[in-house]
Amino acid sequence: MEIHHPDLHPLFADHLATLTQRSDAALAKAGFDHLVIPAGNLHYQFLDDRDYPFCVNPHFKHWLPVTQAPGSWLVYTPGRKPKLVFLQPADYWHVVPEAPSGYWVEHFDIVVIREAEEAQAHLPKDTDRCAIIGEANSTLGPVVPNNPQALIDYLHFHRMHKTAYELAMMRVASKIGARAHRAAEAAFREGASEFDIHMAYLASARQTEHELPYSNIICLNEHAAVLHYHSLQHAPPAHRHSFLIDAGASFHGYASDITRTHSADTGDAFQGLINDMDAMQQHLCARVRAGQDYAALHVDTHRLLGGILKQHGLIRMSAEAAVETGVTAIFFPHGLGHPIGLQVHDVAAFAADESGRLIARPEGHPYLRMTRTLQPGAVVTIEPGLYFIDMLLARLKETPAAKDIAWDRVDAFRKFGGIRIEDDVVCTQGEPENLTRDAFAALGQR
Ligand code: GLY
Ligand code: MN
Ligand code: MN
Repeated sequence: MEIHHPDLHPLFADHLATLTQRSDAALAKAGFDHLVIPAGNLHYQFLDDRDYPFCVNPHFKHWLPVTQAPGSWLVYTPGRKPKLVFLQPADYWHVVPEAPSGYWVEHFDIVVIREAEEAQAHLPKDTDRCAIIGEANSTLGPVVPNNPQALIDYLHFHRMHKTAYELAMMRVASKIGARAHRAAEAAFREGASEFDIHMAYLASARQTEHELPYSNIICLNEHAAVLHYHSLQHAPPAHRHSFLIDAGASFHGYASDITRTHSADTGDAFQGLINDMDAMQQHLCARVRAGQDYAALHVDTHRLLGGILKQHGLIRMSAEAAVETGVTAIFFPHGLGHPIGLQVHDVAAFAADESGRLIARPEGHPYLRMTRTLQPGAVVTIEPGLYFIDMLLARLKETPAAKDIAWDRVDAFRKFGGIRIEDDVVCTQGEPENLTRDAFAALGQR
């Protein structure tokens, strides 16, 4: 199925207008005249000439949809057209980055260089007036990344709020991910191994592992209890009980991050648990609204999860007692989610304001990845989970709360590993936009 791309010309012009506005304010605040952003350079393995996959500076790809341009630079001076210094080396060993083309090029003064060192001649001469955002290995002569904190705090704070162009990119990334999730589920139902499900996912997404925004998590059975499971068994298990897949896709530098959990037997108790987790997750997604404190939503998830544990006969205490005694944290030992955009775990998740003040995590929630209050344009994941993790259950067994756990029920669920359901949701002026559910819906019924 072809994925429709919207007309990006007008969207990109508005996006750039927003970026220049934010950059003007950030430069003024931090006291610099120019914004200089290296795309980055390759990193090499220790004592070797093998390079790691190139990962572009996220600030660079915020300005233009170019993710494979090591040695290139972006320069912005308020009042002037942004300049792209584009490295297209004379090289017969590697594929040379393609000449810039498409909807974005008319907005840049583009200088093509053939050697990385040539960039220096095209960067502002008054280096001490430059805010240079980049890694240390982007240093070029006197051009040394200084990463002014005040400037970065300002840009990161505002980056949470996506432009219409960015949302268009993320809708496409979600559609690619949803399509590949369907292919992965089909492979699971046919009895494929984790490795083969992973390959089915990549083939459907038409992305290599390095193009994905993060490494796929593909778990059969009890492997779903390992939060970051990356092992990919080559052989299918003797019995199939469950399938958890956390896998996203990229589009023009933007990410999607999607998790689904499936039961092999859609009539069993585990499917019942999935259904109730799904209903809870949808309730949480509906609360992605302007003014919502994300940390409060996370804390509330524990209360709701306590209700599900009780309803499914896993605990004998009340939902409130399950939260207070730390029982829900045994079953749900990670955060509700995080901001997403240019990076799968996007920046400024704890920012109180544009000046770098932070909002602390609520006590007892060390793995929460976001405490910010939602405002229109924010895109966040909502990814509650419920897992049967041997190590944590063993810990629970040693506490007084153990007497109120229905261990036979718990033990019966261990073979399924766990459940996570994750959508990417946009906070708007009104109803939230669920990028993930919309993407699945666009695929139609199975
Ligand atoms: N896929 C990583 C995460 O969900 O945060
Ligand atoms: Mn996530
Ligand atoms: Mn995920």
